[in-house]
This record gives sequence, C-alpha cells and structure tokens, in this order.
Amino acid sequence: MKSVRGLKLTVSAAIMAAAATTATASDVEVLHWWTSGGEAAALNVLKEDLSGKGVGWQDMPVAGGGGEAAMTALRARVTAGNAPTAVQMLGFDIKDWANEGVLGNLNDVAAAEGWDDVVPAALQEFSKHDGNWIAAPVNVHSTNWVWINKSALDAAGGKAPETWEEMVSVMEAMKENGITPLAHGGQAWQDATLFDAVVLSMGNDFYKASMIDLDPEALGGEQMVEVFNRMATLRSMVDDNFSGRDWNLASAMVINGEAGMQMMGDWAKGEFLKAGLTAEEDFVCIRFPGTQGSVTFNSDQFVMFDIEEGGDAQQAMAASVMDPGFQSAFNVVKGSVPARTDVPNDDFGYCGKKGMADLAEAGSNGGLFGSMAHGHAAPAAVKNAVYDVVTAHFNGEFEAEEAAQELVNAVEAAM
Ligand code: BGC
Repeated sequence: MKSVRGLKLTVSAAIMAAAATTATASDVEVLHWWTSGGEAAALNVLKEDLSGKGVGWQDMPVAGGGGEAAMTALRARVTAGNAPTAVQMLGFDIKDWANEGVLGNLNDVAAAEGWDDVVPAALQEFSKHDGNWIAAPVNVHSTNWVWINKSALDAAGGKAPETWEEMVSVMEAMKENGITPLAHGGQAWQDATLFDAVVLSMGNDFYKASMIDLDPEALGGEQMVEVFNRMATLRSMVDDNFSGRDWNLASAMVINGEAGMQMMGDWAKGEFLKAGLTAEEDFVCIRFPGTQGSVTFNSDQFVMFDIEEGGDAQQAMAASVMDPGFQSAFNVVKGSVPARTDVPNDDFGYCGKKGMADLAEAGSNGGLFGSMAHGHAAPAAVKNAVYDVVTAHFNGEFEAEEAAQELVNAVEAAM
C-alpha cells in the first residue's frame, strides 16, 4: 500500500504530466533563450502573430546568451524521447542536429514562399542540409558593436572612437569621470563576444585564418598575443562586480549611466529601445574600432523537430517567421536585422538602418564572417575550447603569450 506521502507525490506527478502534455496539434512548444526585457518583447511579436493564425504557444525558456544552457536542456528532452516542436538554434548546432537526422523538412513552405531567392547564402549555409530546408532564419545579429551612453561619451570628449587607441582614451576619460568604462558580465559567452570583436579588429584575414580556418599559426601567432593584450586592457575597464553578471544587467548599467559602454551583439539595442532610449540622442552605436566595414554575424533560426503530431503548426510557424512584414516588426524590437534581403528598412531606427547597410557592405566586400562566440564559426567543441581559454585569460590565469599557445592546444584537442 502507498503511504499518504507517496500517494501525494503520485498525484502531483500525474498533474504535472498532464500539464506537460496539454500542447495540442495546433500548438507549438518553443525552446528558446529570449528571457531579457527586450527579448521577451520581441518574442511577444511572434506569439501574437502566431495566435492570429490559430497557433498556440507553449513556452520553454532557458536563459543564457549563446544558447549553451538551452542546448543542454534540448539534449535532455531529445534523449527522453520528448523533443519540443520548435527550437531557437545557432549555426553549427543546427548542422549537428541535422546530421543526427532528427529534424523536420521545411521544403514545401520554403518553395511556396521562395526562400531560396531571398535568404542570403551565408544563412542558407546553416538553414539547409543536403539541399533541404531544415531551419527558418528569423534574423541576423552581429557581435562587433559598441553601445555607448551619449552623456558619458560627451563628458569624455564627445568623439566616438574610431581606432583602438581612441577607444582606450575614451575609456580612460570615463574612468576619470568616476564611471565604469565597460559594462560587462563575466560569463564565458560574454567574454567570447568581446573576443570576436577584438580578433576582427586585427583584420579580416586574421579573423578568417584564426576563427574560421583554425590555422594554428594564426591562433598562436603575434597578432593573437596582441588580441590577448587588448583583452587584458578591456579587463582593466570593468567594475569589481562583473563576475557572473547577466548581459542585460550590463546593458542596464549603460542605460542608467553607471557605465560608459557595452561591447555586445545588437540584442543589447533591444534593451535600450525597451527602456525608451533613442539612438544618437541617448546612446551611440558604433562598430568596434578597427572593424568598420566588417561584420561577425549570428542568425537565430527556428529548427523544427521531426515529431508525430503538430506538423501543421510547425509549417505555420515557419511561414510566419519568414513573412517579410513579420521580419520587419520582429527585428525592429529584437535589435537584429531581417534574414531576408527584400525587407524595407523604413521602420528601423538609425542603428538598425546602419546594421542593414553594414551587413550588405560586409557581404559584398568579403568582410562577413560567422561569430565564434555565437556558434557560427566552428562546431560547439571548438567554440567551447575557445571559451575556456578566453575566460581563463580574462580572469588572469594566463599571460597573453601563454593564452595564445593554450588556444592552439585547446583548439587542436577539440578538432
Ligand atoms: C542570440 C540572441 C540573444 C543573445 C542573448 C544570442 O546568442 O542569437 O538572439 O538575444 O544570445 O541572449
């Protein structure tokens, strides 16, 4: 006989199981990591769009930029034989799941809506597997941005930095003015986001050789030593409480003037806009000095798992995500730019228009590269190896020369 406690547990387990299976065939259960204010606002645009089409929403949020925690949660769900219907996913993670043969096929909706003609090749590289559409790209973010509080910049001389030296002088001036120059959260993916920009600032060829081609000479050479020296300079510009801080709390420090700037992907702009700030008046967006004309990108894509029921809802979601009107409305709020080349920029603000123009320019001049920090340069094992070395160096474990050598070793071991 079951004890009363045992019975209670059984009953509550049954209630939980019932709650977990209330998704109907016309619902989508969506695993994502959009949990900050700006991200949630953007997600609402999607939820409302779907609800207008009779597609219900079951939320499965797993916080953490770069999606590492979300991917761990996903693995557990799939292993338990209970994959969510739709999953936010980045770059090489999409390829990995496609190789496992567990993703649904979106060819019909892609053909009906002409995705081949409007999605840039750099994104199709991740949205297609063996010639089949397996993901719907909702946006393009880029990681080599700096977001500066306008009053703090004015107090530091007023000129947006264009070179590394100017950047350091502005940060020094901010320090003298009594604010934290660089708002940062000490989490591996955030350290790696800074690293993306600093590596790119050493030139397109160097970014390609080190982050895309994983050439040991570039990974361990003099330019990489300089990258780590610059990372150490950035480390000297953060406050004492940076460790573990979430990225959106770092954005809040720039928003409220406690800090001068944040070096972060344009999801940070979603936070600035959500707080009611206006580009050029309240904040300034620039490309990380030395990376003007180039872009390290990542694209959030929705991958549909091959599940027994809910195929129609999946197709409806994929069609919604790729609708030009939706791509404009969503990306204006999210801070990203559309994943289609035919969406007008009318509704975007100054930084959004700049983001779209920069992406087009980088795409045409050979300056467009996948972000290492956000899973578009190399598979997860290599990305994680880079994270480890970058974070260990940021926290003072290695000198610059040692860090460059560690990077060579760690990447080689992960390949
Ligand atoms: C995603 C963004 C997200 C950011 C922070 C990135 O990896 O591509 O959509 O806003 O992480 O959570």
